[in-house]
Amino acid sequence: MNHGLVQLKVAFSKELPVIDAAIDAEITQLAPIIRPVAEHVMQGGGKRLRPMLTILFARAFHWRGDNLHTLASALEFLHSATLMHDDIIDNAELRRGKPAAHTIFGLAPTILAGDVLLALANEIVARTGNPDLITCFSKAIMQTATGEIMEIAALGNAAMSKAEYIEIITGKTAYLIQSACESGVIAAQGSPKAREAARIFGLNLGIAFQLVDDALDYTSSSATSGKPLGGDLREGKYTLPLLLYLESLEQKQRAALIAELSQPPISGTRQEEIIALISTGGYAQQTRNEAKAYLNLAKQALDSFPMSQEKNLLNSIIDFVLTREK
Ligand code: IPE
Ligand code: IPE
Ligand code: MG
Ligand code: MG
Repeated sequence: MNHGLVQLKVAFSKELPVIDAAIDAEITQLAPIIRPVAEHVMQGGGKRLRPMLTILFARAFHWRGDNLHTLASALEFLHSATLMHDDIIDNAELRRGKPAAHTIFGLAPTILAGDVLLALANEIVARTGNPDLITCFSKAIMQTATGEIMEIAALGNAAMSKAEYIEIITGKTAYLIQSACESGVIAAQGSPKAREAARIFGLNLGIAFQLVDDALDYTSSSATSGKPLGGDLREGKYTLPLLLYLESLEQKQRAALIAELSQPPISGTRQEEIIALISTGGYAQQTRNEAKAYLNLAKQALDSFPMSQEKNLLNSIIDFVLTREK
């Protein structure tokens, strides 16, 4: 197993059940009609990366008080709500190795249950009475939705630049990870400098996280990732592995592939062929290599932090993101 992941698993073996208990305690308070959807999604085996980040940043800045796991659970509710909506938008049928919520509960109930979890996340944060936390959260929600809309607007756009691609993944994924880090520092009443470091760490980790996710979309079997293989290609998303592959082709071949992709559906066999070309051609690996530069920036953001167990674990998260298979 991935080295970073082993370290994290050991360090969080006692913590994860406490995060899960905080999540379950909130679910019990929901209206009975919402609970089955919420349980399906929340108990579906997510990695809990965002709550872990909140906890680590809060502790790194000497957080005192109680209910840290409840605050951390808000990040997971918010994240999971975006996944419920995302799977509808992306027409994805598998999530965390299980049927996506909308395939079981239907579209409208899943959209609305997603809204409930989103509002629950806000309500948990409001309980802290800390306006900075509420602002941090609300901004993350706006930025995430904006990124998702930008991605939809860019569907089928083979002429997308790398800068546009990075802007989209920053919006849809990195800002939420940034807010997970920053909210830990805010809760711990860390200095503005500490908040800035947490923001830089989170933003760069988040960009790298999505770059690796886009690489995994071409290389990781659904048995490993818990998500459909090749989803991005089917959905018409020009993510970095595909953009790099297109760039490597002669003008004529490139135009032919773009024309082919612009006329879905593409047969299953042909999809597998394109996925194999991108994967064996090393374009998913090149995408991972791109992630390295962002992870280095995340690492640098930790430079000013004193040595601590939390700092070590944040470094393990960086290692994990680079090499993760799910
Ligand atoms: C999935 O996030 C959505 C992306 C931002 C790529 P995770 O990979 O953290 O999903 P879970 O929570 O572990 O299922
Ligand atoms: C992840 O987008 C970002 C959000 C859920 C907001 P993706 O569509 O790339 O994520 P997966 O692959 O479905 O997890
Ligand atoms: Mg998706
Ligand atoms: Mg999506």
